[in-house]
Amino acid sequence: MSYNLPNPSLIGILLIISTHSGPQLIYKQPPGLTKEPDEDEGEYDQEDIAETESDEYGNYFEYDEDSNMYGTNLYKQWDANHLNYYMGTKKDLISFLDEIETKRKQASMKAVAKKRSQLSKIASNPSTISTTGNSGNDSIFGIEPAYLCEMLAPPKKMCNSRFEIMIDDKIFLGLPVHKYDNGSWRLKGSSKRINRNKEENTHQHEVDNSKSKLNLNMFHLVFIMNPPVIEYNYRIDEMFHYVISRLSLVLRYEQSKNDFISNQVKMILNLKEQFKEKEELESQLLNKSSLCKMIHDCYLSISQSKIANLSVNNKLRSFQIPIKTEFHSLPESSVPFIPGSHLSSTVGLLGTTGLINVGETTRYGEAMNDENEGISEAADDIVYFALLLLDDAESIIRDIKTESSGTLAKFIRMINPTESLLKLSTRSNSLDTLQVKSFAFHLIYWRRARVIQPLSTRSVYFVSPMAPITTNLYTDIREFKKSFPTLPSLPQFLKLLSPQSKKPSQFATVIPSKDHRDIYFEALSWLIRFGYVTQLQTFIWLKISRKIKIKVEEDLENESSSRKRSNITKKLLMGGTDNSSKDPAAESSTDNRIMDQNDDKEENATKQLSNINAEDQEIENIKERLKSTSLGPLVSLEDDDDTILLDPGRATTLERRWINKIIFDECKLSSELTNAFYKLLKYMDGKSPLELLLLKENISRTEIRKLLIAIEDHIISVRHW
Ligand SMILES: *[C@@H]1O[C@H](CO)[C@@H](O)[C@H](O)[C@H]1NC(C)=O
Ligand SMILES: *[C@@H]1O[C@H](CO)[C@@H](O)[C@H](O)[C@H]1NC(C)=O
Ligand SMILES: *[C@@H]1O[C@H](CO)[C@@H](O)[C@H](O)[C@H]1NC(C)=O
Ligand SMILES: *[C@@H]1O[C@H](CO)[C@@H](O)[C@H](O)[C@H]1NC(C)=O
Ligand SMILES: *[C@@H]1O[C@H](CO)[C@@H](O)[C@H](O)[C@H]1NC(C)=O
Ligand SMILES: *[C@@H]1O[C@H](CO)[C@@H](O)[C@H](O)[C@H]1NC(C)=O
Ligand SMILES: *[C@@H]1O[C@H](CO)[C@@H](O)[C@H](O)[C@H]1NC(C)=O
Ligand SMILES: *[C@@H]1O[C@H](CO)[C@@H](O)[C@H](O)[C@H]1NC(C)=O
Ligand SMILES: *[C@@H]1O[C@H](CO)[C@@H](O)[C@H](O)[C@H]1NC(C)=O
Repeated sequence: MSYNLPNPSLIGILLIISTHSGPQLIYKQPPGLTKEPDEDEGEYDQEDIAETESDEYGNYFEYDEDSNMYGTNLYKQWDANHLNYYMGTKKDLISFLDEIETKRKQASMKAVAKKRSQLSKIASNPSTISTTGNSGNDSIFGIEPAYLCEMLAPPKKMCNSRFEIMIDDKIFLGLPVHKYDNGSWRLKGSSKRINRNKEENTHQHEVDNSKSKLNLNMFHLVFIMNPPVIEYNYRIDEMFHYVISRLSLVLRYEQSKNDFISNQVKMILNLKEQFKEKEELESQLLNKSSLCKMIHDCYLSISQSKIANLSVNNKLRSFQIPIKTEFHSLPESSVPFIPGSHLSSTVGLLGTTGLINVGETTRYGEAMNDENEGISEAADDIVYFALLLLDDAESIIRDIKTESSGTLAKFIRMINPTESLLKLSTRSNSLDTLQVKSFAFHLIYWRRARVIQPLSTRSVYFVSPMAPITTNLYTDIREFKKSFPTLPSLPQFLKLLSPQSKKPSQFATVIPSKDHRDIYFEALSWLIRFGYVTQLQTFIWLKISRKIKIKVEEDLENESSSRKRSNITKKLLMGGTDNSSKDPAAESSTDNRIMDQNDDKEENATKQLSNINAEDQEIENIKERLKSTSLGPLVSLEDDDDTILLDPGRATTLERRWINKIIFDECKLSSELTNAFYKLLKYMDGKSPLELLLLKENISRTEIRKLLIAIEDHIISVRHW
């Protein structure tokens, strides 16, 4: 089992609705849901997909000024040019999830009891389920559809919230959407955009061919899943989070604005009247009903871990369960991952953007929670990074069907892993930063590019501990030879980067001459793309020695007693009104508090240090593997009285005094180096690599080197991916 490998476990999708005459099953995918899908049924012909692409998704990447391919004007929050599009942090979704949360708290007990009783009803009456009448071909995994409908059309108070029920090892998962008492489908009153939608409605010639009234109360798109028991929670959370909740909300929106579900259901019912023969009905449904087509496409793509490009009421929406090919820490050796995955701590910095799909060994829910943290900052940071295309530019342009002379195609051809996006946008006079970012999001979302730090001859690259040596090396040796016939072979190249008897050095030392620069960068890109190589980065902490602490303490005492001496004079001068922090009693008590806090911190730092040691262990392991001598100075715990500042960017008063002591008294930094020090300070958290500082801050390598030498005695540095 591994959460790092895709396993959608989707075996079918049902559309259930409820009207005043009760619940009914409107549509199901795949059509034959009577038994477990076997290999044959799981395979869908490529023709089917190819046709879909050219028919519906051609020109998807047209970026005309007024292009409305995504319905961007219609609802901004789903603007594909906005990061939220990829995050699903649509306001509606958030308020909706809040609603769910409160509801769940109120109703969970009841709901669970209810579902249990329903379940036990089924379980205790197996005869009524599978064998009644000639359920035969109509049955859904042996369950009578009428029963299933009852079950999958929960009462109103259980709607608009996650629904999950297990029958015979299969999970039926969805977000049933119910109309409110006032007839509205959404929480907020309808908005100003109604006019636009009226217009759109007139374009929907495919619907409204029936005058019959359909009093729709509820619709429920139910995903049927059969995940392995051990992955149960993870897989269904993943499906709910990425696909079900988002898709159901889009459908709710379309129902609310355009009666989309009602109209489609009417049409489907009509077709069912018209065409009694099963196969004909199926093809008619797919041909005429965009909702059926949408469910069909969704099932096909999601069950195969592809990106589902769905046309929902003529607007294109994409859904996917992200595939994990990016890691910020080594997975346990027993946990498999997709060969060629990328290992870099940078992934941790960008992971919060939702742009990359970070592999992990932890449970899914935990990873999900911090999704919204620091999005904007990280999204802004992306301009300092470069893109590495995961295929050659022309193939990508062809595959995503963007116009070959269009802006996006031009951008794709411009991409160079040695150049940050910022540089790209300044180099191009037709692209601004915003557009560059948006294109970058697209390429990452479509699994066509990876974010890396711009490649540089002065950076250090080494063989990734996750390199697919055991899985891909044999075939990749040939591939590498084919792509770079004049260069050393793949194994030799790897040896150049991670030599046996010395530590990895700057990439420049590997390149034989200036003329080789470009081809060596291409080879390096290739190696990073296929997961063989990653960048070595430097992480530092500020260490406060016992000596510094004692000195600061002495200073504080001296200040305090000299203030006491001047107390009277001061009182006279200030007219006795100065009662603020200058009060020595108050001061010393705050100092005490800071000291106490600091004790805590020290404890925490000690704890953290054991983590550092664990990391060292990891580094040791890599060293073992790479057989290189050293990756840099290692942390020791020799002096218990040293304090390591974990987050100097948010230092306390006392910590700031320690820091100042180091800068001004111990190291006597020049004013330039002092400035540099303050830029460096927030990177001294052991998490933000110095390489990132070089990219983001206006500071030169030389300056950094000088500074690091000057403060050498007060820092701890660790190098890893
Ligand atoms: C389904 O119906 C077809 C004929 O319509 C029949 O040949 C087949 O055996 C039936 N399958 C089941 C599982 O009853
Ligand atoms: C209908 O009721 C819901 C829930 O009570 C409320 O949030 C919504 O604003 C109402 N809609 C209208 C149009 O009054
Ligand atoms: C859909 O109908 C059109 C004509 O209305 C026909 O040309 C096309 O082949 C049909 N497609 C399918 C998949 O049945
Ligand atoms: C959806 O569109 C994207 C972008 O064009 C493409 O990469 C992907 O393969 C498409 N998905 C399917 C299932 O065709
Ligand atoms: C205490 O402060 C005074 C002046 O404020 C200074 O002259 C003296 O050297 C200091 N003593 C110590 C021990 O730092
Ligand atoms: C300083 O002045 C304050 C206010 O009058 C007084 O409470 C305090 O005791 C004085 N401190 C010393 C050390 O004299
Ligand atoms: C101390 O200062 C605060 C504001 O600085 C003021 O509100 C308070 O009244 C002062 N107390 C005394 C005893 O002067
Ligand atoms: C130390 O860590 C504990 C939990 O691990 C936390 O509650 C406490 O606030 C931390 N103290 C400091 C000073 O960071
Ligand atoms: C970067 O720093 C140099 C001097 O160190 C200065 O001349 C230049 O204006 C700075 N640039 C920015 C964008 O701050």
